[in-house]
Amino acid sequence: MSIRIPDVASAQHVDIPLSSNHDVASPLRYPGGKSVLSGFVQTLMSASGLKGGTYVEPYAGGAGIALRLLRDGIASRIVINDLDPDVYAFWDSAVNHPDGFLRRFDAVEPTIDEWKRQRRIIRESDDPLDRGFAFFFLNRTNRSGVADGGVIGGLRQEGRYKVWARYNKSKLRDKLVFLANHGQDIDVLNMDGMEAASEYLSRKKTFVYIDPPYVDKGSSLYLNALTEQQHRDLAGTLERNRAAAWMLTYDDTRLTRELYTGFPGGLFPLRYSAASHRQATELAVFSDTTSQALQKVMERRETDNGTETGPLGMERAANRANPA
Ligand SMILES: C[S@@+](CC[C@H](N)C(=O)[O-])C[C@H]1O[C@@H](n2cnc3c(N)ncnc32)[C@H](O)[C@@H]1O
Repeated sequence: MSIRIPDVASAQHVDIPLSSNHDVASPLRYPGGKSVLSGFVQTLMSASGLKGGTYVEPYAGGAGIALRLLRDGIASRIVINDLDPDVYAFWDSAVNHPDGFLRRFDAVEPTIDEWKRQRRIIRESDDPLDRGFAFFFLNRTNRSGVADGGVIGGLRQEGRYKVWARYNKSKLRDKLVFLANHGQDIDVLNMDGMEAASEYLSRKKTFVYIDPPYVDKGSSLYLNALTEQQHRDLAGTLERNRAAAWMLTYDDTRLTRELYTGFPGGLFPLRYSAASHRQATELAVFSDTTSQALQKVMERRETDNGTETGPLGMERAANRANPA
């Protein structure tokens, strides 16, 4: 039986399986982090014959998927690109200058005095390593990991959780040492996401996962948000690269549905760790190549199992009208 991934325009639900959130490979806490999609991306890369290839995130943020794919041997090389100078400073210093980064890490404890000192550094220092470490420290000690979220527990530490609540030094050190040991497999870039996407979409044995700032909530969560024109330009770039291997996720808005009408994809529920277990519906869009690979996986599963549902669960969704 032939299975077809629905068109974005039909707003059907695609039943994307989410991986456990407990196995986070990234040292950063990230609002809107997509680690839970790592098992699904692994399936897509394997089905596309890209196992052992390069995995690229043009809007990387916490890069949780990238690090899991590298750790699990699905990707042999990962590209972490982010335009935010502090996000970049973190990745660049932790990956490319690990001795200096780990020295700073080992020397500080998560206290209120240290939080004040790191906040001063991020406001005043020009030193990239100091800024990279300060971004990391504040990401681990601020509410929800947000730059202007304020310290966990408040300055007087009267809250239920304290400044150290998300700062398990031994676990964080392991994650930082992983970066240090894999520096030769990780490229860290500070380009515009669309340029990074264009650059890698044409490369062989490469999978690109695009997770741009949201159309609706972009500016409140991140330092950067895209203009409507930038969202439109990105869609144009992806349209020109329908034959490449990529997946895109977005917030479900009128604009995103309009831009990706005619592409394979649909809606799926995603639970955010940043905003108090809020669940939102996101839009997943696939390139033609990725969607064909996905269809083959689903067809094989159906033949093997003789059932309607497989681990991807999209079989049901793909064949059922389920308007949002
Ligand atoms: C939705 S987040 C990505 C979250 C990431 N997928 C994760 O799992 O952690 C979007 C990221 O894009 C970055 N960003 C914003 N505008 C950008 C641009 N024009 N080019 C590249 N990165 C950009 C932000 O700094 C933010 O880290």
